[in-house]
Amino acid sequence: MKILNWKKEIKSDELDEVSKCVANGGLIIFPTETVYGIGANATLKDSVDNIFKAKGRANDNPLIVHLADISQIEKYAIISNEIERKLIDTFMPGPFTIILNKKEIVPNNVSANLDTVGIRIPSNNVANAILKASNVPIAAPSANVSGRPSGTDISDIIDEFTGKVDYIIDGNEADIGLESTVVKVIDGVPTILRPGFITKEDILNAVGIVKVSDKLFKKVDGPVESPGMKYKHYAPGSECKLIYIKDINKRIAYFSDISNDKTVIIGSSVLKDIPCKKFLFYGDSLKDISHNIFKLLREADKYDPDMILIEGVSKEGLGLAIMNRLIRASSYNYIEF
Ligand code: TXA
Ligand code: MG
Repeated sequence: MKILNWKKEIKSDELDEVSKCVANGGLIIFPTETVYGIGANATLKDSVDNIFKAKGRANDNPLIVHLADISQIEKYAIISNEIERKLIDTFMPGPFTIILNKKEIVPNNVSANLDTVGIRIPSNNVANAILKASNVPIAAPSANVSGRPSGTDISDIIDEFTGKVDYIIDGNEADIGLESTVVKVIDGVPTILRPGFITKEDILNAVGIVKVSDKLFKKVDGPVESPGMKYKHYAPGSECKLIYIKDINKRIAYFSDISNDKTVIIGSSVLKDIPCKKFLFYGDSLKDISHNIFKLLREADKYDPDMILIEGVSKEGLGLAIMNRLIRASSYNYIEF
């Protein structure tokens, strides 16, 4: 296994090496603008199986296929209507995944036997260079062991995947920090199956209609539109509690009450003076929170707390995606008032 440093520039001899490796069936970890991905050539069934093994991922949870540009989509999937076309033209390349009817060429393990496939075109220059140079579609889930917070920081990724892949490419911390918005057009309505940086409001502006799946904040079992909804996700090892209290004074009072020298608090500057074992600052803007949150969920574990207390945010704009991840990270141990 090799770890490559492409933080400043993409080295062309190494790009050649990595691209050949992935085209020929190897596993690579690479940066995208959302989170790091663990990728394989999406047309090679056995290589795709190796992703599931390396992550310990359930094989009924489908993978997203990453492509270099929009013109390649119809090789792997069918664009069935004008709304799908408009979403693609508006949000791709970018932190957006569209679920389309799949073509034969996509192996069944990629789509977990569904007749649809998730397609994404990253806007990150490293991801894009690899997709172009390898000239193959790359199936890639987030680079984390299943159930754990998604990989956004290279040292966490190296800890989890050393020896399990052929290359790990360091391209700086993932910019956005939360995975792509996953959308499926159902009965003519773009439906958000996983919220992300492209918000409900963005989609509404682009196509005039949008729906948010009613399962985003519920524990789900059995058949769902997006199998990822039903699994344990993003969870640190320690127990977590997520708290959203609108009134700032009441929020400070509540955290002060339940915090002690064995709790870690993850939150904004509003909570910075509350006594606790360790305060981890996640930022004061939704963008900063989204960028920092997965890394901090992992860091919190290092203090071996009795409990991780997480400050919630309002579920508006990017806040919807942040709260969707945090509610799962805290295994639905959540209060709001
Ligand atoms: O930002 C991202 O999307 C990152 C980077 C690496 O591109 N990838 C990522 O992949 O988050 P993953 O596998 O961790 O999450 C994919 C999500 C899962 O919730 C899965 O259930 C859903 O997308 N999904 C994939 N294919 C689907 C399909 N055909 N129908 C419904 N949901 C699908
Ligand atoms: Mg994931």
